[in-house]
Amino acid sequence: MPKPVTPAPAPLLPISEVARRSGVAASALRFYEERGLIRSVRSGSGHRRFPRAVLRRIAFIVFAQRIGLSLEEIGAELSRLPADRAPTGADWSRLSRTWTSRIDARIAELERLRVGLTECIGCGCLSLDRCQLANPGDRAARLGPGPRYWIAD
Ligand code: FES
Repeated sequence: MPKPVTPAPAPLLPISEVARRSGVAASALRFYEERGLIRSVRSGSGHRRFPRAVLRRIAFIVFAQRIGLSLEEIGAELSRLPADRAPTGADWSRLSRTWTSRIDARIAELERLRVGLTECIGCGCLSLDRCQLANPGDRAARLGPGPRYWIAD
């Protein structure tokens, strides 16, 4: 009877290779690791070695940051992935399912900010022609400091 073949362990990548492939600086990768967002193992010489699946995790982190998630929120999302194996497509799909509303909210916010570039934002400067109509006498200041029409409460 033939002996079962055990697959060779997947090769681990040095941090320079991960930085090259992900487009994320090694310093940022070390920061992500310090924050517990990614994990490495140490080689005999003490250098970081990453599993190939970390590339998808890093892409997720970069994307999540771009849609406005904080590192704490990203960490919470990533903690929902299995720790004992590389995440599958189904795992990633489950994670991103809740993101549609988040992305929609971000798009709406960016639309509001874009409009605000040429409109009165209620910052108290009263410098645009429109300010006297939109924010007469700096009425927006009653709502608090900063550009009140930009800040969604
Ligand atoms: S833009 Fe500043 S108060 Fe109108």
